[in-house]
Amino acid sequence: MYSHSHFTHPIPKFLFLSISNPIRKVKTPASSNRKLKNQRSASYFIGDSIPNEEAQKRWGWRYEMKNQRYKGKDCASDWFPLVIVASFLLLFGLFFFLNFLHGAYSDDDEDKIVSNVECHYAQARIGECIFDLGDCAYIKGEGTQKHIGKILEFFKTTDGEEYFRVQWFYRAEDTVMKEAADFHDRKRLFYSTVMNDNPVDCIISKVIVAQIPPKIGLKSNSIPSSDFYFDMEYCVEYSTFRTLLTGKIHDLSLPSCTETVPTTATSTFLENMPNHGPHKAELALLDLYSGCGGMSTGLCLGAKLSCTNLVTRWALDSDKSACESLKLNHPEAQVRNEAAEDFLELVKEWQKLCKRFAVNIVERENKQRSMSQRVTRNSENSPSITRNSVDSPKVTGNSVDSPRVTRSNVNSPRVTRNSVNSPRDVDIPLGEYEVARIVDICYGDPNESGKRALNFKVHWKGYSTSEDSWEPIEGLRNCPERIKEFVRNGFKSKILPLPGDVDVICGGPPCQGISGYNRFRNVDSPLDDERNRQIVIFMDIVEFLKPKYVLMENVVDILKFDKASLGRYALSRLVHMKYQARFGIIAAGCYGLPQFRLRVFIWGADPSEKLPQFPLPTHEVIMRYWPPSEFERNTVAYDEDQPRELEKAIVLQDAISDLPAVTSHEARDEMPYEKPPETEFQRFIRSGKSEMTGSGFNGSSRVKVMLYDHRPKRLSEDDYIRVCQIPKRKGANFRDLPGVVVGADNVARRTEEQMLLPSGKPMIPDYALTFEQGKSRRPFARLWWDETMTTVVTFPSLHSMAVLHPEQDRVLTIRECARLQGFPDYYRFFGTVKERYCQVGNAVPIVVARALGYALGMAFQKLGNDEPLMTLPPKFSLSTNLQLAKSLFQGND
Ligand SMILES: C[S@@+](CC[C@H](N)C(=O)[O-])C[C@H]1O[C@@H](n2cnc3c(N)ncnc32)[C@H](O)[C@@H]1O
Repeated sequence: MYSHSHFTHPIPKFLFLSISNPIRKVKTPASSNRKLKNQRSASYFIGDSIPNEEAQKRWGWRYEMKNQRYKGKDCASDWFPLVIVASFLLLFGLFFFLNFLHGAYSDDDEDKIVSNVECHYAQARIGECIFDLGDCAYIKGEGTQKHIGKILEFFKTTDGEEYFRVQWFYRAEDTVMKEAADFHDRKRLFYSTVMNDNPVDCIISKVIVAQIPPKIGLKSNSIPSSDFYFDMEYCVEYSTFRTLLTGKIHDLSLPSCTETVPTTATSTFLENMPNHGPHKAELALLDLYSGCGGMSTGLCLGAKLSCTNLVTRWALDSDKSACESLKLNHPEAQVRNEAAEDFLELVKEWQKLCKRFAVNIVERENKQRSMSQRVTRNSENSPSITRNSVDSPKVTGNSVDSPRVTRSNVNSPRVTRNSVNSPRDVDIPLGEYEVARIVDICYGDPNESGKRALNFKVHWKGYSTSEDSWEPIEGLRNCPERIKEFVRNGFKSKILPLPGDVDVICGGPPCQGISGYNRFRNVDSPLDDERNRQIVIFMDIVEFLKPKYVLMENVVDILKFDKASLGRYALSRLVHMKYQARFGIIAAGCYGLPQFRLRVFIWGADPSEKLPQFPLPTHEVIMRYWPPSEFERNTVAYDEDQPRELEKAIVLQDAISDLPAVTSHEARDEMPYEKPPETEFQRFIRSGKSEMTGSGFNGSSRVKVMLYDHRPKRLSEDDYIRVCQIPKRKGANFRDLPGVVVGADNVARRTEEQMLLPSGKPMIPDYALTFEQGKSRRPFARLWWDETMTTVVTFPSLHSMAVLHPEQDRVLTIRECARLQGFPDYYRFFGTVKERYCQVGNAVPIVVARALGYALGMAFQKLGNDEPLMTLPPKFSLSTNLQLAKSLFQGND
């Protein structure tokens, strides 16, 4: 059933490009051209033909084609033989080749190149209007459709037919965004290098298309008054929207019909960008829906390898235990345990507070600090401030104007005015409390009052921190000084990001409304389903914070339901905000993991930055399933005929054979390793943090002695007895239990004599017999050493999937699952066993995120070429940063 194979594109890429070009339908088919010609009266070339010598110089390839045609090639077919294409490749370079292929190698008659050219012209009259080369025009499409393109050639054939060659612009809805682009500006077009030949009658009328520099947050009054404008290129490869490359604009000779709307006197787009300048020493990352931090951890590791110091500054998740795990492994991050929708409101409110209280003061203080280098200060009006912790700026000291307030929620803090904890408040009237300091901020309804608002966490004078309580901002009107101090300190230490603070936002907004295991999904209109709203929130946060880069991860189901509306929506939001964008489908196993796991990744990049590429696979993989056919070409893979050097696929044995045997009852959270690593994977995954990150390494490889989280979900007594009966061999499952027969119809049934467990329950449970109509082999299935998992999920459910250890009577442990996800052994998880499995199963595999982080770092430094895919350094996936740095260093020597 599974093929052990290279994960490749089955169709040569160039073919697909042509097939998937929606604009190819625009053209009036050549077959109908003759009919059109007879009816035509108002379209014809004017003036003398362009002298042959000049025409040969400008469009030599077309005349070359004609010559080849007459040299005894198959004239019946207009398809151009590959051998000629290859010689053209040498003659005219790759760029021309690709464009040419768009026309020449389609399976569709519409896109063929007209090869029997007689001569070229410089002008044509269409109705009352004269068209020059380089003009832009409306061009007839199917039915009443009108498309837009730039005229590149006017030429006559040996049959006397008149053609023009057009370079197409895409409207937003002609791109992969389709209906999800309906909120885009109707005047915005996308430049493309797609071109083809059409009868001259297809030209309708002239249009003016202006070129403008792309800019995030472009104001509508900066949009030119021309008929249309474009600021980006669209190419079907990995559905890429990107800033036009300077060279390319010149190569293609910008249409004369386009007006360039300059912003500065400099000539190139990239130079015009405001952000273009010296690189920041550190790139700040915000990890949304962070879980335990798989995605951000990998991104930072990979970026570091490309010498980009990406640091997780902020992380956010609604799950408490996931937040604790992230804190445990990333003490440098501000981890917020809250819902993304509340975070969005909070950062908006925070910006207002900072404007009100902090900015001027901080600017003044910065000046002072640059003179005195002091970090603490005293002022007359405010208590002296000593910053104890980055997350909670603390205010200490007495102040004569310490404010008294009426608490909103006297019930919740479990205190009364007569509390023994409050010995010093005898002078405070009953029902009033004194704010000692503000220690935290949130947006939402922490007291469950039914009202969502901005709230501050207050530490009360004379009470312990356990009595701190959340108070809505209105209740704290009497203490602006306390708020001001909190905001000023928070602003300085960046407890929350403001627009411009975040360089990279990554995240996997959950789409529970469509996820694979949800039977109650709204397949027709997933964006209307509240459970899928997080994609909207994610994009709203991007819109507000305006990072340089965005990376969104999601399940392939966003490309399945409702004609892929969720996936298209995500891309469309980025492009609408003027981000460059592209999306790819990545199989985690291709990067050296014993699971397949197919996921969608969408890059976004500020127009002034280089759009990151996708990293090509490093390993062979055991294939399990394909993405939806429409998006097959978005899979990040080598083409079938492309040369590649891939490592052998990683299987279960490579990943976990060194781990100590444990029983289903194992309850220790840490234990000794017992054995040394046996494989390259195990040596890699057991590396210490300093070797993995490549920093803080003191020269000696520390041997890690303790192993964490190597304990399984404990089986119920009944299941344990059943599992002990499953043979320890490849392919074993519930069908091997005593008392099962399998019919010729492949359906498993109980034997007449039913075996009962000591509990009185049947040995063969009903759910195993009914699962997939009794045809499944997955209930109680053992994994085998030479196998991989399809996907590590959030809970090892032995009733419906193969999760049993090959030779031990238990499900895979948390650590084993973590290894399958590429988490280094030093990465620890917090929470109950169930919570830890969930964090691991939810994560973006570290090795995948690491490869993407490398691509991000390269893009940030504007390194690499402009292809959508890049090759990773040799041995990338299973070498630590330290090993890779050493080998790169040696290579450079
Ligand atoms: C797919 S997981 C993310 C995994 C993470 N990217 C990683 O690599 O480890 C999705 C996360 O979203 C969190 N989540 C769900 N709804 C949320 C919400 N409304 N706001 C914030 N987090 C939410 C879940 O708790 C879960 O940890």
